[in-house]
Amino acid sequence: MKPLRVVAIVPAAGYGKRLRAGKKKPFVLLGGKPLLSYALKTLEASKEISGIIVACERPCVKRLRDIAKRFRIHKLIDVVVGGRTRFESVRNCMRKIGASFDIVLIHDAARPFVDKKTIAQAIKTAAKFGACIVAVPESDTVKSADSSCFIEDTLDRNKIFRAQTPQAFTYRIIKEAYSVSKGNNITDDAGLIEKDHRVKIIEGSYKNLKITTREDLKIAEALL
Ligand code: CTP
Ligand code: MG
Repeated sequence: MKPLRVVAIVPAAGYGKRLRAGKKKPFVLLGGKPLLSYALKTLEASKEISGIIVACERPCVKRLRDIAKRFRIHKLIDVVVGGRTRFESVRNCMRKIGASFDIVLIHDAARPFVDKKTIAQAIKTAAKFGACIVAVPESDTVKSADSSCFIEDTLDRNKIFRAQTPQAFTYRIIKEAYSVSKGNNITDDAGLIEKDHRVKIIEGSYKNLKITTREDLKIAEALL
């Protein structure tokens, strides 16, 4: 059987308002290296992946190419200018991808601790079911509340997962989703298709945290 051709998309065009680091989140230093270099290095080292496309803000394109050079990201195909939302940034990357790829794997620059095994498993599962996300089971008790913060209900924790990235899809499924959707209120890629298509969840690791706040950055430094 022909090996799968897999391309990775890395949205890195967010500012990181909640991090309040005084500079753009993908370039914030973690262990002395730019945050986004961690995910790029793991994608580079994943043998299943043959190309990487990164979205960043227009003024950062050069800086991103320099980082790719410094960390020897030879699989970098392109750096594209992102949009106002994550959806728009991924969509701009999707426009660069043709049908020569079988699988598209999308991974946030803000998750430095993704590992090769998880990437490989997400790709394999997407090839089998068409769509796959990495997630962790919820460990807290989860409440829903009204707009005044009074509890409405306790959700069944056994049915709750915290979605992470990577998320992987066959080219056909994700290409169509990004071509037709306007991406309203979408914060992950599976959100575009989960109403129409079965999406398999595979269990990831709590270590694959997303750097969102200063506390996350401190935790990440401790995990290095
Ligand atoms: N992202 C992007 N383009 C945007 C917004 C977000 O490519 N317009 C990327 C971020 O760079 C990040 C990922 O999507 O890698 C997840 O987004 P999030 O963690 O929310 O990062 P930011 O949007 O940068 O952070 P904040 O919401 O706190 O501003
Ligand atoms: Mg954001």
